[in-house]
Amino acid sequence: MSIAARFEELFGRAPEGVWAAPGRVNLIGEHTDYNDGFVMPFALPHTTVAAVARRDDGVLRLHSADVEGDPVELRVEELAPGGTDAWTDYVSGVVWALRDAGHAVGGADVHFESTVPTGAGLSSSAALEVVTALALNDLNELGLERSRLARLCQRAENVYVGAPTGIMDQTASACCTAGHALFLDTRDLSQRQIPFDLAAEGMQLLVVDTRVKHAHSDGEYGKRRAGCEAGAAALGVAALRDVAYEDLEGALARLDDEEVRRLVKHIVTENHRVEHMVALLEQGATRAIGPVLTEGHASLRDDFRISCPELDLVVDTANASGAVGARMTGGGFGGSAIVLVDTSDADTITKAVEEAFEAAGFKAPRVFAAVPSEGARRLA
Ligand code: GLA
Repeated sequence: MSIAARFEELFGRAPEGVWAAPGRVNLIGEHTDYNDGFVMPFALPHTTVAAVARRDDGVLRLHSADVEGDPVELRVEELAPGGTDAWTDYVSGVVWALRDAGHAVGGADVHFESTVPTGAGLSSSAALEVVTALALNDLNELGLERSRLARLCQRAENVYVGAPTGIMDQTASACCTAGHALFLDTRDLSQRQIPFDLAAEGMQLLVVDTRVKHAHSDGEYGKRRAGCEAGAAALGVAALRDVAYEDLEGALARLDDEEVRRLVKHIVTENHRVEHMVALLEQGATRAIGPVLTEGHASLRDDFRISCPELDLVVDTANASGAVGARMTGGGFGGSAIVLVDTSDADTITKAVEEAFEAAGFKAPRVFAAVPSEGARRLA
């Protein structure tokens, strides 16, 4: 059944439109986004699709194909920060953020269908936020730019849901274009679309979802963020972005706290890796990004300390089986890794990873090749 037909079955009328927003993988630039640094994600072909029609009684009725039962009903004027741990928080949070910023947004009926894997570190929540923001922006003729919509979605997540995340995921979902990675400066939100066509080079990027989600990832994320802020304060800079790669040794020598020193080292070297990778891709030296990916993994594992045995096993096995490079992607403590391979080696490397997981007694991973795809858009 089409999403419009399902909407009609649920709400007894046709939707006013249908929108889609993708999940993402991050090529490089991990945990740099709340340090005013650089990131380079691209959009996945997997999307969250929303069929939407406005209501004039201030009621939000939200339904998802992935959740059993009737639509959830909320009143827009009662929306307030303080997560309820429900999937609907990401949607009502966006309505709240738009209204809180002074935009005239009323009630709506919404039905969602999604192919973005959840709990895999592929930004299913950002896809849900961004598809909601884009639909409401269009239907209410708010005229907001995509990077502004991304900022409001981040506010929904930070203030309404209560997760202290950066701006990368929402911007990736809102602003990526097919065939490109998005080089984003998270300080001023300036963007550059970097051509990233692996097929033309006989290569592929595999995403390996380890199907691990660590229970404490939220608290650990907040701790890393606080540690980075402590590092910036100790060094007398506004954000760790302001520590130049060339000055890293001197900066580290001025920090007494070993934990903070490691965090600072990761952020400064990671920003450098993003700029280096942009330069390599712009020169057409695509294969040369492989070792940069693997170095990024070592930094996340040893300095930032957010990897886990399953992610390390993907990276080590893939590299030992002939991958061009590999690293964990996203927030860490589980989720997914990315593996750059020659297309001719994709099956062998996939098999090697699957076998290593089985031998280690881990859950079978989910592996797919990711093609840089279009960002959020109206479908109908
Ligand atoms: C999560 C957050 C992002 C970013 C990454 C790590 O995906 O939502 O803002 O911090 O982790 O790079």
